[in-house]
Amino acid sequence: MSSSPTQSISLTRYLIEEQRAGRINADLRLLIEVVARACKTISIAVGKGALGGVLGDAGTPGVASMNIQGEAQKKLDVLSNEILLEANAWGGHLAGLASEEMDTSHPIPDVYPRGNYLLLFDPLDGSSNIDVNISVGTIFSVLRCPDGVTNAADEHFLQPGTQQVCAGYTTYGPSTMLVLTVGNGTHAFTLDREVGSFMMTTRGMSIPEETKEFAVNMSNQRFWEPPMQRYVGDLLSGKEGPRGKDFNMRWVASMVADVHRILTRGGIFSYPLDSKCAPKGGKLRLMYEANPMSFLVEQAGGAASTGRQRMMEVQPTGLHQRVPVFIGSKKEVEAAVRYHAEHDTSHSSK
Ligand code: AHG
Ligand code: MN
Ligand code: MN
Repeated sequence: MSSSPTQSISLTRYLIEEQRAGRINADLRLLIEVVARACKTISIAVGKGALGGVLGDAGTPGVASMNIQGEAQKKLDVLSNEILLEANAWGGHLAGLASEEMDTSHPIPDVYPRGNYLLLFDPLDGSSNIDVNISVGTIFSVLRCPDGVTNAADEHFLQPGTQQVCAGYTTYGPSTMLVLTVGNGTHAFTLDREVGSFMMTTRGMSIPEETKEFAVNMSNQRFWEPPMQRYVGDLLSGKEGPRGKDFNMRWVASMVADVHRILTRGGIFSYPLDSKCAPKGGKLRLMYEANPMSFLVEQAGGAASTGRQRMMEVQPTGLHQRVPVFIGSKKEVEAAVRYHAEHDTSHSSK
C-alpha cells in the first residue's frame, strides 16, 4: 500500500525538484503545470453541476452531437476539450494535440511557437456518470514529437506506450486528485481548494501484487470470449473454485475512478474483447485511455495487458484505436493473461 510522508510538497515544488534532478526539462514541467491548471478549471465546472448549466447532452435538443467514435457528446465532454485545447495552445511546449473528442490531431495555431511534445487526452472520462453525480476524470499522455517534425500530423502520434514521457489523470470525486508519472514512480496530489494548489498526498503509490477484487461490466458476460468466460467464472466460484479465494466486485463505469481505486488498494480492471466491440478491437482507446493508465500502473508496480500482449508494446495504427484492457495487481493480470494463453494454445494445436 501507499507510502512515505510527503510534508508539504506542492505539484510545482515536485516538478521543480524533478527538473533539478534532470528527469524532466523546463518544457515538460510547463506542460504538466498547464494541464494541471486546465484540470482545476474542469474541476470547478464539474463541481458546479446543475448550478453551472453543464449537465446533459451537447448539441441542440433532439439532435445529439456525436464524436468520431459515434458516441453522443455531453456538454462537459465538449467544454473539457475546449478548456484543455485553449490552455495548451499558447505555451510553446507542444507540437500538436489529440483528443477523444476530435477526429484528427489538432495543430498548434501559427501565431504561437512550437515545442517538442505531443499531448493526447480523454478530456472527460466516464461521461455516462456526469448527470448522476458520480466521479469522472481527465486522462492524459505525453509523447515526444519525432525529430525534425514541427507540424505534427496523426502519424507522428502513433508511438507505443513505452515511448510516453509522462502520463496522468485527474479524478473529480469527493476530492479532486491528480495522479502523475514522469517515469520515476506514480504520485498522487490532492487539490487544496482554498489555496488552489495540488499538494502531494502519496509519494510512490504501490499496488499490492495480489488481490481479491475485480472490476468488469458483468452485463457483457454472454458476449465475452471463452478465456474471459472461464477466468471470471473461476473468480465467481470463490473459495470452492480453482482460485481458492472469494472475490469482491466493483464497477464505477469511469475508468479513472476504477483505476484510482486499484492504485490505492489493488484489484484488476478489465474491459475485455466482446462480440459487440470486437469489430472495433475493444471498447477502450489505446492512446489516451489504456496507455497512460498502463504507464501509471506499471510505475506503481502493477501490470497492464491486452490479454495477449503487454499494453505499452502495442504498435498503434490509429489515433482512436481500441484495445481489450486488463490492468492492475501484477499477479492477477498475469492470471488473466494465462487464461488467454491456455485457450489460444489449446486451439492452435487442434
Ligand atoms: P468515455 O466517457 O471517455 O467515453 O469513457 C467511458 C469508458 C470508461 O471510462 C469506462 O470504464 C467504460 O467506458 C464504461 O463502459 P460501460 O458503460 O460499458 O460500463
Ligand atoms: Mn474515457
Ligand atoms: Mn471521454
